[in-house]
Amino acid sequence: MKILNIVGARPNFMKVAPLHRAFSQYPDLESKIIHTGQHYDARMSEVFFNQLELPQPHYFLGVGGGTHTQQTARTMLEFEPILAAEKPDAVLVVGDVNSTIACALVAVKEGIPVLHVEAGLRSGDRRMPEEINRILTDSISDYLFVTEQAGLDNLKRENVPDGKVFFVGNVMIDSLVHYRQKARQLTLLQETGLAPASYVLMTMHRPANVDHEQGLRSIVRVARNTAQHKTVLFPIHPRTLSNMEKWGLKAELEAIPQVRLMEPQGYLEFLHLMENAALIITDSGGIQEETTYLQVPCLTFRDSTERPVTVELGTNYLLRDLNPETVEAQVRDILAGNSKKGQVPPLWDGRAAERIATIIREKLR
Ligand code: UD1
Repeated sequence: MKILNIVGARPNFMKVAPLHRAFSQYPDLESKIIHTGQHYDARMSEVFFNQLELPQPHYFLGVGGGTHTQQTARTMLEFEPILAAEKPDAVLVVGDVNSTIACALVAVKEGIPVLHVEAGLRSGDRRMPEEINRILTDSISDYLFVTEQAGLDNLKRENVPDGKVFFVGNVMIDSLVHYRQKARQLTLLQETGLAPASYVLMTMHRPANVDHEQGLRSIVRVARNTAQHKTVLFPIHPRTLSNMEKWGLKAELEAIPQVRLMEPQGYLEFLHLMENAALIITDSGGIQEETTYLQVPCLTFRDSTERPVTVELGTNYLLRDLNPETVEAQVRDILAGNSKKGQVPPLWDGRAAERIATIIREKLR
């Protein structure tokens, strides 16, 4: 049995690593990695391959950036001949990035079963490119692997037959469980001269927040307000950095005492920084889940989430509104210790990839 696993962007690597490891336990299951090249900087890609012990990709498509259409179309064109040459028994895609929908679409047209890991999540906000990718990928997938109850409910509402849907837990948490100890041993905090819980960690990259001046200005303002309470560590995504430069806001952000801009961090470094943070302010999807597992408070810079279990059971909060004053009140409240303790959601136990491997072997046989 042969499976092609697709990775493209940063949040894919920590999801595919445990799957590849689980598949590799079986001598009769050949697992290959296809990297579309959606993310190409060493800090957005290579460091994750090294730290997550992924093999060099069997194919690298080198599609790079561009508009959504260019990126998606290039991925499809580059992937098609590989699929024809490899003739796999299934193509596995994770998450909701452009590489996910592009490769799923090529596979389904060739009659190759599509396995979607992290299926069923819906924010209800169709302005997000990821929401479109989620809906489309789920609608053409043959097997859908779900992380939380809301995913099961959404797929039922969309009339996906029960027989295609499997509640397995969260492969991203598999990576966290696997590497947590290693991340704890890093000396990054000592090197930066910070004590545990003495800082707020911030990340921002969603187009809705960083592709326009007003959004960038409110991010600068939130950083400034938060820095009055604690040091702010801000590893900055290439999209956000280039837009900050474009609107002349980078210097302003850098000039705030107690805000430290950093390069995008490796997987282990970021895990280390998350585990020791007093609070994380982010617009990432995955970080909402990782902080829930780590039971660290997370303020999500959005008014909706496709991962409601992180709010219902976990330590995640959505913004009440975008007004920087309201955001500051929320930050102050959380830093004052009025934050929920949270619980780890069902099946987020480090064994999701094993469950998926067992199901795939049974179903595809
Ligand atoms: C993509 C995903 C998003 C995910 C995010 C994680 C889609 C629609 N979005 O968004 O869901 O949360 O990845 O980071 O797939 N760039 C670099 N170096 C890189 C990668 C990107 O400089 O290695 C720059 C390029 O200018 C690029 C821009 O960042 O155009 C945005 O990259 P892109 O892949 O289009 O989307 P992300 O914003 O990273």
